[in-house]
Amino acid sequence: MPARTRTRDNRLDIHLRPEELRETLRRDVRAGLTATPKTLPSKYFYDARGSALFVDITRLPEYYPTRAEAAILARHADEIAAVSGADWLVELGSGASEKTRRLLHALEAGAGLRGYVPFDVSAAALTEAMDALAQEFPGLEQHGVVGDFERHLPALPHPPRGGTRMVAFLGSTIGNLDPGERARFLDDLRGGLAAGDTLLLGTDLVKDTGRLVAAYDDAAGVTAEFNRNVLHVLRRELGADVDPADFEHVAVWNAADRWIEMRLRARRDLEVRVADLGLAVRFAAGEEVRTEISAKFGREQVRAELAAAGYTPLRQWTDPDGDFALTLARLDQA
Ligand SMILES: C[S@@+](CC[C@H](N)C(=O)[O-])C[C@H]1O[C@@H](n2cnc3c(N)ncnc32)[C@H](O)[C@@H]1O
Repeated sequence: MPARTRTRDNRLDIHLRPEELRETLRRDVRAGLTATPKTLPSKYFYDARGSALFVDITRLPEYYPTRAEAAILARHADEIAAVSGADWLVELGSGASEKTRRLLHALEAGAGLRGYVPFDVSAAALTEAMDALAQEFPGLEQHGVVGDFERHLPALPHPPRGGTRMVAFLGSTIGNLDPGERARFLDDLRGGLAAGDTLLLGTDLVKDTGRLVAAYDDAAGVTAEFNRNVLHVLRRELGADVDPADFEHVAVWNAADRWIEMRLRARRDLEVRVADLGLAVRFAAGEEVRTEISAKFGREQVRAELAAAGYTPLRQWTDPDGDFALTLARLDQA
């Protein structure tokens, strides 16, 4: 059973307590830093500082995905709400829930919104967003979930008195998963849904490489700071003696896999001692650790991946520049 608590009048289920998050961090860091090549999972970027840095990224001139997705929602949220027929909105990787407001307003004006379920690994971002939404949508029932969408989807809360859910997965966060992980994610999600529920999936589309890379390597260096934040997390949570300044931010387009890779590159030969793990990790100058992939999609590819996972694609929208797609798909059979 998850731990339960309340923020204001809202409920919060905690599937991932800080000590469990630290335990998975320990496991993942040991596995990732002893692997060749070295990797670290992107979910560990998002402590309070990392979540705030991500919000800063969404406002950068180079970072078009948030603006493109917001433009689609500004234009089509009413239609999305009507086609979904949902009265509950679940949002995975909800973060600051900024774009969500458009969906909440559209659902309120449509069939009638009964509740919102934000779900995020970052307890700090989640509670801050819920508090802000409680002010803006005073009657809205909120049921937050602190959890990992790679582990806790089968335990997605069901609407208390019945109802239909739309699960929004925005920001192209699904692109942080590789194809096998995406298939597992969509399968797990089915396990937490009922027939008639829908998934609204945001995906960044393949485009000019220069624009793609710039979106992950901005001139002001905010993404570099976000990338290095994982090293601050390792220092604080695991007693790693790493100096983030020893690592350079790298963003490259991997054409074969059609994803952007963010990496941290050692500026010199060095050793990182991770005290809590009793682990010493050597880096040769120029050696890299991969910290995130961000897959880019074709419109048809998104529909095909959804169909292969048992969802029926209903409609797809893009922004006027064709940079980003939102796809609504229904689960006909749970
Ligand atoms: C790229 S940001 C997107 C935030 C927001 N949805 C948007 O569109 O701007 C990814 C969000 O997913 C959350 N996240 C990352 N990995 C997660 C995981 N495994 N389980 C749950 N949440 C996760 C992060 O904390 C962050 O809020």
